Amino acid sequence: MRTFLLFLACLVFAVVSVTGFRGTKTTRNPIEIFPDMVRQAKVKEQAPSLFFPDRRASRYPVTGTVPTSDPVDQPYLNTGMIGDYWGDGIPISVTAETLKKGKERFEIFCSACHGAAGSGNGIATQYGLVGVPNYHSDHTRQMPDGQIFYVITHGQGLMLGYGANLSVEERWTVVAYIRALQLSQNATLADVPIAERPELEGK
Ligand code: HEC
Repeated sequence: MRTFLLFLACLVFAVVSVTGFRGTKTTRNPIEIFPDMVRQAKVKEQAPSLFFPDRRASRYPVTGTVPTSDPVDQPYLNTGMIGDYWGDGIPISVTAETLKKGKERFEIFCSACHGAAGSGNGIATQYGLVGVPNYHSDHTRQMPDGQIFYVITHGQGLMLGYGANLSVEERWTVVAYIRALQLSQNATLADVPIAERPELEGK
């Protein structure tokens, strides 16, 4: 028992000497079992740095850098807007390949909510997600292409943006694919090439 009490006294003394009395303040860094990245060797913007010969931490882009998505250069392509208004039209070339790519991206990123045909009945709606619009409603059908691009980029209401997941070009392929889905649900025989009509008519 005596040994135990002695041991306990030593333990209390050791703990108090490491952690300090309650309310004691220190200017030292807290003890971190798993160090986070608050304290690290880094260069802060607009601050001097001894690393570079000109002593500036902020650097110019490397000579010959080509901007890939500069809204100033190609505003419609990169934002879906022309001035203060939504633009209309797909600013990349639309081929069968484009639609294939758009379908692939759509099925990965959008169909879980919007449904494979864009009717707003994706698998997530079976688990309680409400308010997913149907692309075949007049509202979505009348949205300019640029606005759809913008919704994909930044999201809208309950929907998050996918600008970080899809490149500018991929977003336009998805817009093109949405237009194809809309056409597919509202087409007449006149939209089908003459050569392929007999097949549809069952002849
Ligand atoms: C997690 C579910 C979810 C995913 C994934 C999702 N959306 Fe949405 N989307 C929504 C919801 C919910 C709304 C309605 C948002 C609102 O207005 O409140 C919406 C709205 C939209 C609209 C506007 C339609 C209208 O008539 O207002 C478009 C266009 C759209 N989504 C396209 C896409 C595309 C393209 C993708 C894939 C890149 C995508 N969404 C992925 C849930 C989703």
